[in-house]
Amino acid sequence: MRERKPDVIDDLWYKNTVIYNCDVRTFMDSNGDGTGDFRGLKRRLDYLSSLGIGAVWLMPFYASPDRDDGYDVSDYYAVDSRYGTLGDFVEFTHAAKQRGIRVIADLVVNHTSDEHPWFKEARASKTSRKRDWYVWSKTRPKDWNRGMVFPGVQKSTWSHDPKSGEWYFHRFYDFQPDLNTSNPEVQAEIRRIMGFWLQLGVSGFRMDAVPFVISKKGPGQKPVEQYDMLRDLRAFLSWRTEDAILLAEANVLPRTNFEYFGEVGERMQMMFNFDVNQHLFYALAAHDKGPLERALVATHDRPQTAQWGLFLRNNDELDLGRLTEAQREKVFQEFAPDKSMQLYDRGIRRRLPPMLKDDKRRLRLALSLLFSLPGTPVVRYGDEIGMGDDLSLPERKAIRTPMQWSSEPNAGFSKARRLAAKVISGGPYGYETVNAAQQKYEPESMLSWTGRIIRMRKECPEIGWGDFQVLETGNRAVLAMRYEWRDNAMVIVHNLAGEPQEVRLRTKEDKLVNLFATGDSEGKSHKISLEPYGFRWYRAGGLDYLLRRREY
Ligand code: GLC
Repeated sequence: MRERKPDVIDDLWYKNTVIYNCDVRTFMDSNGDGTGDFRGLKRRLDYLSSLGIGAVWLMPFYASPDRDDGYDVSDYYAVDSRYGTLGDFVEFTHAAKQRGIRVIADLVVNHTSDEHPWFKEARASKTSRKRDWYVWSKTRPKDWNRGMVFPGVQKSTWSHDPKSGEWYFHRFYDFQPDLNTSNPEVQAEIRRIMGFWLQLGVSGFRMDAVPFVISKKGPGQKPVEQYDMLRDLRAFLSWRTEDAILLAEANVLPRTNFEYFGEVGERMQMMFNFDVNQHLFYALAAHDKGPLERALVATHDRPQTAQWGLFLRNNDELDLGRLTEAQREKVFQEFAPDKSMQLYDRGIRRRLPPMLKDDKRRLRLALSLLFSLPGTPVVRYGDEIGMGDDLSLPERKAIRTPMQWSSEPNAGFSKARRLAAKVISGGPYGYETVNAAQQKYEPESMLSWTGRIIRMRKECPEIGWGDFQVLETGNRAVLAMRYEWRDNAMVIVHNLAGEPQEVRLRTKEDKLVNLFATGDSEGKSHKISLEPYGFRWYRAGGLDYLLRRREY
């Protein structure tokens, strides 16, 4: 943190919770029509609650032609009828609240669907009231094919609109025209959308594509970010619902982080840490902590109230665009050697277990890193049971298959004959082998482990709340971190390599208590022997430290 003052507000719930990224479409189908729905999701809340989840981030559930899994919205004020009604939505948020689970909605306001009535009106005539809600050019701009987000699939960022004879801007697919977010009317509409869902019980938003939302847009226009917009959005949010948060999807360079958080935390409370994510995968692939340590240090500073969202995999490809070419090649070689596993010239469209060749030791190591690096962990649905991917599906659909609940037909996800999304069946990741029901009673299963590590994480507020420091280990493959918060400290050590390692650590305290197993350490320096891919979570200074935790 830039300034070290005591954190006096204890109520920041997002500092020490676990967020679960889930898609209503593929989670649980209650009415047997082949698509997941809010009634189904509601029935699965007890599962999430017993796992220890504190917040659910829902992928877009608004009315949509569904050409980009809901990221193409045609009505922001409606639940897509396939998922239920607004009534079902409110029943769901209410049931979540009863279990102490918060709901975070995906807010997709960089663009709409081309079937949104606003766009239809905008393109109908150059003088229409909605014309200036989108971004137009009379002629084809020089940069018409630059800045594409989906290279290889997307053809351009400007497309010709035969109706009005002009060109419209779309940062993403051509069916996702960008909103002119500089237009005060559009800004007011974004606030209205937020206000609507807050009123229906959400605790905040995962804001899609933030750098593009706040960009100046227009033909020949350099994409300059207007960061002040973030302060306005935040002010509105906090005024309407005081404990609601904004979680930014912003894959940006660490030097701009304060622009997103605000100097004193007056903008977005949370951002995904893409920098750590990419370097973490390099560390796992190369057994080399160097670049990860540098990413941790580069993203160390943040306002006191701000928090990182940490993740392993999410709903998209694993984006490796910020690694050097050599680093990226290394990760491809280890985790996605076949071209069909790669996407958009920069990423990997696989789930974690197949990448790690289903090596349980490595999966636990990755899980331990997710739950112990600085920030709040965000778990992708299905990762808690080690689900696989289906590379026969196009693009990111490979990792968007239905949740595998049991070995019943359709993985227990639906009773329908035809499903909206194919279930993974057969082979090592088929629902017959990988499912929640079976893993529930296996003490060493991925599900049991995930539950265990979530419980442990909740007992270690130092990680979410505290300040951290990277410790010297003299070993490239061994990452050691120390956390401190209100007179409590933890030391966490990870062996990235497939061979055993031994390191010596110096810490202030002469006692380290092992939290996951027996094996404490005492002395002026600590000799720690780690098995291949092994890790240790220690409370420094003895367990009674917790009792001595200072209150303000
Ligand atoms: C974000 C989403 C992605 C979507 C895109 C367009 O990057 O995570 O899934 O396709 O925005 O909305």
